[in-house]
Amino acid sequence: MKNTKIVIAAGTGFIGTGLVDYFGNDNDIVILTRQPRKDHHRITYVQWDGKTLDNWSHYLEKADLLINLAGKSVNCRYTEENKKEIFDSRTNATQVLGAAIQTLQHPPALWINAASATIYRHAEDRPMDEFTGEIEDDFSVQVCKRWEESFNETVTPRTRKALLRIGITIGHQGGVMVPYMNLMKFGLGGHQGSGHQKFSWVHIADICGMVEWLYDNKELDGTFNCTAPHPVTNREFVRALRKAGKHYFGLPAFPWMLKIGAWIIGTEAELLLKSRWVLPTRALQAGYVFRYPELQPAMNQIIGQLPRRRYHLV
Ligand SMILES: NC(=O)c1ccc[n+]([C@@H]2O[C@H](COP(=O)([O-])OP(=O)(O)OC[C@H]3O[C@@H](n4cnc5c(N)ncnc54)[C@H](OP(=O)(O)O)[C@@H]3O)[C@@H](O)[C@H]2O)c1
Repeated sequence: MKNTKIVIAAGTGFIGTGLVDYFGNDNDIVILTRQPRKDHHRITYVQWDGKTLDNWSHYLEKADLLINLAGKSVNCRYTEENKKEIFDSRTNATQVLGAAIQTLQHPPALWINAASATIYRHAEDRPMDEFTGEIEDDFSVQVCKRWEESFNETVTPRTRKALLRIGITIGHQGGVMVPYMNLMKFGLGGHQGSGHQKFSWVHIADICGMVEWLYDNKELDGTFNCTAPHPVTNREFVRALRKAGKHYFGLPAFPWMLKIGAWIIGTEAELLLKSRWVLPTRALQAGYVFRYPELQPAMNQIIGQLPRRRYHLV
């Protein structure tokens, strides 16, 4: 993509940074954020609060692409207060973007909303995809369902819409690699829980790749799983990480250790123990070619991008 106008709501986080790196040199980027910083090169920061329709909506006029990534991180203790913010930050931002689009003369040509592959049930028996996946009703799934409903309910006749059910994203600028590398550093780079739980991952390059592919293929819309076509088990994941980082040994963490450890560091053991077994069937059927279909090359690429000092000191 070249010389397009791309608006990224909450483009300041891990995935947003990856998208800005990927598209930022050749396109004009507008980032909606609660904490604007100084504009630079072709990137403009615009204040919003993620819930109130305001002047920021004018920046969506004539956009070629709108990407919404807003949401409080789920990497926290699930207190009632945090749960409310996890829920509201996603649904409010999605609803207010939909409301903004409906006021515009020249609305964005395409709106891609983040969603999560966590919407599918804990699965150790068979993979879940867009056609046969089953959805259950724990807290994370309720968030995902309402988040998707907020997006799907909004009628935007002049804006094509696509939803990306994103898997656990790996990249050198953040996300799960940071805690995993910390565990590795303390010799805890073994599997978590039984280690048989599936880990549906995706390289950040494939999020960027799928966004560009959806933009180029104007006949596509609706829900797409954004996960690599070869998910692994938790054991295989940590083994690939150890291999890439040249750590030959790692102690495993049993479920009770994870529950205590998660409590101490203020997160939820569920994030590590849920078996996420998801396949990107629609993307494969429609011809998307993954840059990183297999984990080990993805992991090697990421570890290779890290300054050695950072890798050893995190
Ligand atoms: N990373 C993954 O593995 C993964 C997997 C599946 C789905 N996703 C989804 O993809 C989206 C982006 O993920 P990410 O890893 O880039 O997340 P991230 O690094 O936590 O960034 C999310 C951004 O959302 C904004 N935000 C946070 N709390 C907010 C609130 N209360 N109200 C409005 N905005 C708020 C922040 O932007 P400002 O501070 O600039 O406003 C933040 O930079 C999220 O919705 C996430 O759930 C991520």
